[in-house]
Amino acid sequence: MPGPRGLEHLQVMNLAAGDTRAAIDALRRRYGDAFVFGFGAIRFHWLLGAAANRFVLLEAASAFRNRQAYRFLEPIGGPTALIVSDEPEHMRRRRRVQPAFHRRHLRGWSEQALTAFEGWAEQALERRQLALQPSLRPVVLDLVLDVLLGPGTRARHPGLRDDLAAMMAFANQPFLAQLFRLPVPGLPWWRFTRARVRVDAVLHSEIARRRAAPEADARGGVLSLLLAGAADSPPLSDAEVRDQAVSLVAAGFDTTTAALTWCAFLLCDEALHERLAAAVRGVDPLAASALPEVDALWREAVRLYPPAPAILRISAEPVAWGDLHLPTAALVGLSTFHTHRDPALWREPERPRLERWLAPEGPWAAPRDPFAYLPFGYGARYCIGAGLARTLGGAWLAVMLARARWRTPHPEAVRPLGTTLSPPGGLPLTFERCAV
Ligand code: HEM
Repeated sequence: MPGPRGLEHLQVMNLAAGDTRAAIDALRRRYGDAFVFGFGAIRFHWLLGAAANRFVLLEAASAFRNRQAYRFLEPIGGPTALIVSDEPEHMRRRRRVQPAFHRRHLRGWSEQALTAFEGWAEQALERRQLALQPSLRPVVLDLVLDVLLGPGTRARHPGLRDDLAAMMAFANQPFLAQLFRLPVPGLPWWRFTRARVRVDAVLHSEIARRRAAPEADARGGVLSLLLAGAADSPPLSDAEVRDQAVSLVAAGFDTTTAALTWCAFLLCDEALHERLAAAVRGVDPLAASALPEVDALWREAVRLYPPAPAILRISAEPVAWGDLHLPTAALVGLSTFHTHRDPALWREPERPRLERWLAPEGPWAAPRDPFAYLPFGYGARYCIGAGLARTLGGAWLAVMLARARWRTPHPEAVRPLGTTLSPPGGLPLTFERCAV
């Protein structure tokens, strides 16, 4: 595959360390839609565009695997988490997890989220100025924990939230930094492993408690539903249940916080804010979070700023895509970020436009090709928590649009950065109350 060599390679690596997406842009201009760069464990074969997405995720899906591609997530989620499971185990586990995310739970999640965000909003609006992402992170983590582990769990284990946050802090380091796993007191890996021991102890005690006294309803959260499971598929072991629970928290809370932050960023535009505020005015918050305008804003936020900007796979055999030959064990990167901003697929892709979703026959309509829009992945690997994330997003928007306007000091300087796409400085905002 084409790609930079020698000095150019070093320059690109340097650029990629600060801004991977800028490095991919530069390489795409020079080499087209397929190129390779990086070394060792981070040598990526980037395949860009809707046709590449279709090839890897559908046409040649059976030639690709997840486990080795996402093995950097294993220390947190464990070896049986869905994201690192390959077939046939993946499907067996997914069948057990999927029912816990059924649509019938949406209303309950929405009510929980509205209450939590109303409490958060009162404090935020008192302060008037804050960096949004770090301020939202604990409230989203608490919500995700309540949904996944049941509302009583945080009270029984007060240290759980901080330990999980410490584990996530390790995973949020740049890719290269995560390769340094020195068990030296005070260093990130040491803090990570100590937190993991405590989290595992909590999870195993909760699993034992629920096995002894089953409570297969919303009060026990996803965890109890996992233990109850469906009668038509073999049960999960305790180790599998632990891995699902921890990996769901890890997959869910940072991505969702980032998506809410990007919704807020789009709404720093006064005209867009006014349009959304007018739509929710006088509408019950539960209904407001489901309005088409709110939905369109959410879709635009995760289009322009997909919190999971790349989907990774590794080839299990030699694969040919046209003239292109991938060897066995090639690490493949698909960029949702670049797909969502591809001018061949989207009209004026850099501009947020609700019409892409509100007027499917209009000139701005989103492309019908499912491989042009993949913020939550595709097919058998489609994000299991997409409905939960959307519910939390809708609740936050319903609460905030009814209460406040906000702006950020330098909107033109906001660039999406990091493994989970986030704005610099966590998006500093100034709030102004408006009449409810
Ligand atoms: C805005 C928030 C979120 C975004 C943008 C997002 C994005 C994604 C994407 C792109 C994938 C596909 C990865 C691939 O095919 O390699 C995925 C998979 C997954 N997501 Fe999410 N996600 C979000 C929230 C959540 C939440 C809230 C949960 C759970 C509580 C969750 C759990 C998962 C799991 C378990 C998988 C793996 C599914 C499988 O391989 O079968 N995600 N997510």
